[in-house]
Amino acid sequence: MVTGVLSYTGKYITKRLLAMNERVRTLTSHPDRENPFGQEIEFFPYNFDKPQKLRESLEGIETLFNTYWIRTPYANMTFEKAVANTKILVEAAQMAGVKKIVHISVTNANVKSELPYFRGKGEVERIIQESGLNYVILQPALIFGREDILINNIAWCLRNFPIFGQFGSGDYLVQPIYVDDLAEFAIQARDKEEDKVVNVAGPDTYTFDQLVHLIKSKVRSNSKILHPPPFIPLIFAKIISQFVQDVLLTKDEMKGLMENLLYAETGLKGETQFSTWLEENKEFLGIQYASELKRHYL
Ligand SMILES: NC(=O)c1ccc[n+]([C@@H]2O[C@H](COP(=O)([O-])OP(=O)(O)OC[C@H]3O[C@@H](n4cnc5c(N)ncnc54)[C@H](OP(=O)(O)O)[C@@H]3O)[C@@H](O)[C@H]2O)c1
Repeated sequence: MVTGVLSYTGKYITKRLLAMNERVRTLTSHPDRENPFGQEIEFFPYNFDKPQKLRESLEGIETLFNTYWIRTPYANMTFEKAVANTKILVEAAQMAGVKKIVHISVTNANVKSELPYFRGKGEVERIIQESGLNYVILQPALIFGREDILINNIAWCLRNFPIFGQFGSGDYLVQPIYVDDLAEFAIQARDKEEDKVVNVAGPDTYTFDQLVHLIKSKVRSNSKILHPPPFIPLIFAKIISQFVQDVLLTKDEMKGLMENLLYAETGLKGETQFSTWLEENKEFLGIQYASELKRHYL
């Protein structure tokens, strides 16, 4: 079972599983989305409100690759609800006899974090660790790839606005990992014997400022990169969000970035360099705005 086969990370895990002639089922809220896999996948709804049905969809499954999470609360969806839903999913997996969970978390997930995203991720990790199921928890920082939203929208801003405001100095660190390298680590994790929590990152660490400059040069933007106090770009992010009817970036995401939460010193390193991928995708990146709300809520 791979959650979100038609979304982002789940798609890459699925491509690899199908290439190994494995059978794949998915849980999704969007079974009508364009499906590159045809009849090869069995689709099931998340069914958090019908745990018995959820359990039935997990029967016969060996490994649950879990990507389920929300980036930002909206309408009646909250981080607390996402934690509760994941608990229902883990219990359903346990009762259905699933042997292992390979779970995609985030760097610096922590039940004590003041940021709800990282705190909720910490709570989910704890639920999985206490479930009695075998598990591997992979903690990526920032995932890049064609379907990505955040890096795409940095490029979109650089292409469309004459100025780009960093949050202050921009000297906080990020470790982008390529989505298919993450998928490879997820498949390898399935075959590992021991339970484990491990950071996964790309080969390079950048300051956020370096990352933005790199994107700027690749997409040939003339935007001037400024370093105002953080509240100023946040105000602009809110205005742009209204304009594109989305959530471009939240205050909590800004805090996470500035507190170096998208960085971890140790862990597995993928091979794909962000700069190489950028060079190969520069004509595509940021041409269209990528909407979080359209993808997951509207
Ligand atoms: N993207 C990054 O840069 C990044 C960085 C660090 C950690 N992570 C973590 O890596 C995992 C995979 O991320 P991803 O970007 O690849 O996610 P994704 O594919 O966009 O979504 C993963 C799954 O969560 C569901 N989902 C997402 N937002 C939802 C919402 N608001 N309401 C209901 N369901 C929702 C999706 O449902 P559908 O199947 O219906 O689309 C999908 O099944 C997540 O746990 C994320 O927290 C991501």
